[in-house]
Amino acid sequence: MFRTIRGDITKVTDVDAIVNAANTSLLGGGGVDGAIHRAAGPKLLEECRTLHGCETGKAKITGAYELPCSYVIHTPGPIWQGGHKKERELLASCYQSCLELAVQHGARRIAFPSISTGVYHFPVEEAAGIAVRTAKRFVQEHPGELELIEWVLFDDHTWKVYEKALQG
Ligand code: APR
Repeated sequence: MFRTIRGDITKVTDVDAIVNAANTSLLGGGGVDGAIHRAAGPKLLEECRTLHGCETGKAKITGAYELPCSYVIHTPGPIWQGGHKKERELLASCYQSCLELAVQHGARRIAFPSISTGVYHFPVEEAAGIAVRTAKRFVQEHPGELELIEWVLFDDHTWKVYEKALQG
């Protein structure tokens, strides 16, 4: 039901949807956003152009093209500004929005990156706690609708932090 993986989210082959830590333009970027667009190919950006951006904390869904899954769910996480600009609520909203879209589209297995903890500098420990609490609450409120929620972490430290949050 819940698990962490140390690896590259573009290489995950056993989920229906992967989540992209995007920016509000939805027109690509660096980090995991760049990796997902590179792996999906140019048609992903073509579809993203039709979406006209996305608000922080919300999510939009597209096809996955050359990626080994069915959907990419794009969510702009909050940029950490010290914790007094509702960053925590916005990050929780990212997870909630992605899970709602997954269920609406019948995606029962979903993989997340560590949203906002790279370029957006959200403290990893806090982000992991918010991610896990939000996912667990969603599953309680939507019994039977999701089979697997996993986090695919790109470095050892982040992986250990999420593993600890999940076991906590
Ligand atoms: N697979 C899984 N995780 C990855 C990958 C990958 N291929 N590449 C990077 N990551 C990890 C980072 O190491 C970090 O732990 O994703 C996490 C989120 O980091 P960012 O990709 O920098 O995302 P974020 O902090 O949400 O910032 C979003 O960065 O790339 C731009 O366009 C994006 O403007 C947006 C901003």
